Amino acid sequence: MTQVGVWDARYAAEPDVPGEAAWVLREFAHLLPSHGQALDLACGLGANASFLAVRGLDTTAWDNSEVAMEKLQAYASAQKLRLLTAVRDVVAHPPEPASFDVIVVTHFLARALFPALIAALRPGGLLFYQTFTCEKIATLKTPSNPDFLLAPNELLHLCAGLRILAYREDGRAGDLTSGMRARAACVGQKT
Ligand SMILES: C[S@@+](CC[C@H](N)C(=O)[O-])C[C@H]1O[C@@H](n2cnc3c(N)ncnc32)[C@H](O)[C@@H]1O
Repeated sequence: MTQVGVWDARYAAEPDVPGEAAWVLREFAHLLPSHGQALDLACGLGANASFLAVRGLDTTAWDNSEVAMEKLQAYASAQKLRLLTAVRDVVAHPPEPASFDVIVVTHFLARALFPALIAALRPGGLLFYQTFTCEKIATLKTPSNPDFLLAPNELLHLCAGLRILAYREDGRAGDLTSGMRARAACVGQKT
């Protein structure tokens, strides 16, 4: 089965409603503008996209899983959300320069995409990013492919073209049963 087929099968088996938005978006929601255009890139079932649309942003959601995009568009229409979905390979077709006020990417890593993501922000625009790190915590499931795992501080370096408003990596310090483990999160602003 292709990688897209794997995601389609997974989403077909999941509920039709998006789950909870990522921590980085909930925690730093106060940084969001009151209006503007937002993108949830590699959105899956669109929990982040729905969160952005509910907050009044004109939201676009892209993923290359047709199943996920059908489910999300149906949910958005039923809820009357300002949310448009598209089946799109975001690596082959990244966003256009200066096209969004907010870009959210969670649990997806394509390092080569960072220059395009930063270029796609309008002046003052925000990038919310959260994904897995290489720190293995026994109780937490993370991807096995090291290409999808951030090295320590790597997200900070990938976002270096932005003004960093928030950054979190708990690493392996202290009590491993609490905190945000095996993930890093960043909010950066285009100056
Ligand atoms: C781990 S899921 C994350 C989904 C969502 N962002 C979240 O945090 O729940 C990774 C998503 O990336 C999508 N994906 C992988 N490669 C992609 C590509 N080249 N273009 C668009 N979407 C892609 C998959 O279909 C899947 O929905």
